[in-house]
Amino acid sequence: MNRRYRKTIIAGNWKMNKTLTETKAFAEEFKPILGRPKWCDIVLCVPAVNLHSAIRMFKDSRVSIGAETCHYEENGAFTGEVSAQMLKDIGVKYVIIGHSERRQYYNETDFTVNKKVISALNAGLRPIVCVGESLEQRELGVTMDLITYQVKCALANIPIEKVRHVVFAYEPIWAIGTGKTATAEEAQEVCEGIRTVIRKLYGARVARAVTIQYGGSMNAKNAAELLAQPDIDGGLIGGASLKPDQFMQIINAANQD
Ligand code: PGA
Repeated sequence: MNRRYRKTIIAGNWKMNKTLTETKAFAEEFKPILGRPKWCDIVLCVPAVNLHSAIRMFKDSRVSIGAETCHYEENGAFTGEVSAQMLKDIGVKYVIIGHSERRQYYNETDFTVNKKVISALNAGLRPIVCVGESLEQRELGVTMDLITYQVKCALANIPIEKVRHVVFAYEPIWAIGTGKTATAEEAQEVCEGIRTVIRKLYGARVARAVTIQYGGSMNAKNAAELLAQPDIDGGLIGGASLKPDQFMQIINAANQD
């Protein structure tokens, strides 16, 4: 973390978990233990059907609500889809884009990721752009080549004044939901690499201001060490964000004075 130049953001990614009833139960348990953490922003990305209610439930708290994806067009004949404008209009603040599960199961490509980032920024949402390598790619030694390509594609045609609204999440695919975390050194190396790509594209001032998260089996035990790295400015947390006490422990790790 480097709180001088950029925000630390702890974001939960609930994926396809929690009904509305379960979302209410989470809010009732989480709000009283949350308080007002001073050093980090807190985001909960929840299934589309629960966004509107979640926004109301967390209205008077420090929690912002995010979506887990959006379409790249403003409107039109795209049955089943939700646009960035629709999300913005109900009070959503963030949207995850290009999560590896969406790339794997729903054919999201670096090109659609770019279009979605543009559409999210145009709507006034903050995109959380996920990048990350598979185990095979890591073993082949092409991790940074791939990440560089993903970051460059995601940022294509994004004007300099909008780049600081983009959040990146480095999520090695082999670490997601597996209980296998990247070591703090491995995660730092790639997050630093992402910042270098941004610096080459937009200059040092912009690169310094961009929040870069780590994601992939982040939990109460490993959060402090990961967040102590200079280029890791938060986390995108799946499994551990489903339990109020576990999520709170990660928030506490980001709030040490
Ligand atoms: P995990 O998920 O924390 O359960 O590994 C992270 C993510 O997919 O964003």
